[in-house]
Amino acid sequence: MRMTALRLRNFRGYQQVMLSPPEGVTVLVGENGAGKTNLLEAVHLCCLGRSHRTSNDREMIRKDQETAAVQLTVERKDGTHEVGVRLFENARRRKLVYVNGKTAARMGELMGHATCVIFSPEDLGLVKDGPQARRRFLDMLLSQEQRPYFYALQTYMSALKQRNALLKQGDFRQMPAWDEQLAAAAAPVVRLRRQACQRLNERAQIHYRYIGGREDEVFGLKYHSPLSDSEDPAEDMLKGLRACREEDQRRLTTCFGPHRDDLELTLCSEALKAFGSQGQMRTAALSMKLAAFDLLEADQGEPPLLLLDDVLSELDPDRRRRLIARIGRAQALLTCTDQADFIGARPACVLRVENGNIHQE
Ligand SMILES: Nc1ncnc2c1ncn2[C@@H]1O[C@H](COP(=O)(O)OP(=O)(O)O)[C@@H](O)[C@H]1O
Ligand SMILES: [Mg+2]
Repeated sequence: MRMTALRLRNFRGYQQVMLSPPEGVTVLVGENGAGKTNLLEAVHLCCLGRSHRTSNDREMIRKDQETAAVQLTVERKDGTHEVGVRLFENARRRKLVYVNGKTAARMGELMGHATCVIFSPEDLGLVKDGPQARRRFLDMLLSQEQRPYFYALQTYMSALKQRNALLKQGDFRQMPAWDEQLAAAAAPVVRLRRQACQRLNERAQIHYRYIGGREDEVFGLKYHSPLSDSEDPAEDMLKGLRACREEDQRRLTTCFGPHRDDLELTLCSEALKAFGSQGQMRTAALSMKLAAFDLLEADQGEPPLLLLDDVLSELDPDRRRRLIARIGRAQALLTCTDQADFIGARPACVLRVENGNIHQE
């Protein structure tokens, strides 16, 4: 897909800007703090309804402003899609989501129109951080890929919240009813995560070998969940909840279920987090993102938008060249602080970003 227009209003440091990136790679150059990542964040917000780096929407509203708006237009095989998000400083006003000029009733309606994969230095957290980082990676991918996943996850998380609230209130009478609801909601989440992980593993393994450049290093990604091999996740979830009931009542929270899922990452069957070098971990994180890119491309019949945030400077020239070869078919926004960083990327356009302004080099 190709983005033809990105509009920002009172978003982060930007008062008002519009970009019309050409096909291929657009490079955004600028000093640290100039506002490069903010532009990628705006694209991410349009694709997924949330930032890739904060869960506090209000942070994105320009200082001293009441509201911020972002809008993205993409051309796809089936025509033009326009999506937008509006954020409000007033905590009582919910964020608004627009699809093709109309206000959407549900957040989920935004998903899948414009899709993106973002690469950033923080991706190392996919390997190094706790399970939450890996769950978020899966959720971001699957929500864009299939709207039913987003709705299933929403249903699950809201049932979980209610069950946890009852536990905290010490009200255990309604537990069996909530167990049923939670179990029913868990099943599609588990099934779709399991399917995605199998496909991600295949693709990530290939990317790892190619980017790492070593035949003897085999990367593995596996869905790690108490329900990962379950033939009937709803039934097994119910059993798990019942088995953990006492623990739940003692700890006042739900201890069993896909909200605790993880991805197991290995290199030649050893845990990557414990044994991998910095370079191996970086290659693994990169391979996972490339695998996510492949899945979106395969399912949508066209590549998603690529957002590359300061990633080239961290790679040696060989890996850099291999990465660029892998993603050359997509439209990309690539940020860097130094012109030298994008040697080999053959940009279609170079833009300089300077405190709230963007101009052609
Ligand atoms: N809500 C906001 N209002 C005004 N400026 C902001 C806001 N949020 C961030 N900024 C500014 O954005 C800049 C950081 O932008 P960023 O895109 O992360 O920089 P970089 O070019 O290094 O990627 C900082 O200078 C900060 O002052
Ligand atoms: Mg940045």
